[in-house]
Amino acid sequence: MPLDLKALVRSIPDYPKAGILFRDITTLIEHPEGFREAVERLAETHRGAGITHVAGIEARGFIFGAGVAIALGVGFVPVRKSGKLPGETIGQNYALEYGVDTIEIHADVLGAGDNVLLIDDLIATGGTAVAAAGLLRRTGARVAHAGFVIDLFDLGGAEKLRAMDVAVEALIP
Ligand code: HPA
Repeated sequence: MPLDLKALVRSIPDYPKAGILFRDITTLIEHPEGFREAVERLAETHRGAGITHVAGIEARGFIFGAGVAIALGVGFVPVRKSGKLPGETIGQNYALEYGVDTIEIHADVLGAGDNVLLIDDLIATGGTAVAAAGLLRRTGARVAHAGFVIDLFDLGGAEKLRAMDVAVEALIP
C-alpha cells in the first residue's frame, strides 16, 4: 500500500496572511518513509524520459529536487533567487501579486542536448515555475517534464506549464 502523502502535509490557516490555507510540507519531509516515497514517486514518473538534469526551484524545490536527481542518477541545477549564484548568471523576471521577482541560473550550466526535469514542492498560480521553464529553455535545453508534490489545481499553474508543452505530474492533485 502506498503511503497517504496528503495526510502527511499539514494545512495551516491564515499563513502567511489571513484567508490563505498554507500547505506545509515540513511534516512530510520529517517523516522518513513519507519523504522517501515522495522523492521516489517523483523520480519514477520520469524514469526513462532521458532526463539529464533536475532543476529545483529555491527553496523547497531544492529539498525534493536533490533527492530526485540522486534517484535518477543525474546532476542538480539550482534555480535561485537573484544575487545568490557566484558565477555568471542569466535571469528571468516574473510578476508577483505586488511587484516583480527574479530567478537565476548559472549561464554555463545547461545547453542544447540537455533534458531538464523541473521540480518544486508545490505549484499554485505557476508564476515561478513558468519563469523557470522559460529561463531553462533559454540555454537551449529541453524542458518537457515537471514534477510537484502538490498541485493547487484550481489556481491554474499546471495548465500554464502544459500550455508550454511541459508534461506536469503532481503527487497530490
Ligand atoms: N504552501 C506553500 N507554498 C504556497 C502555497 C501553499 O499553500 N500557496 C502558494 N504557495
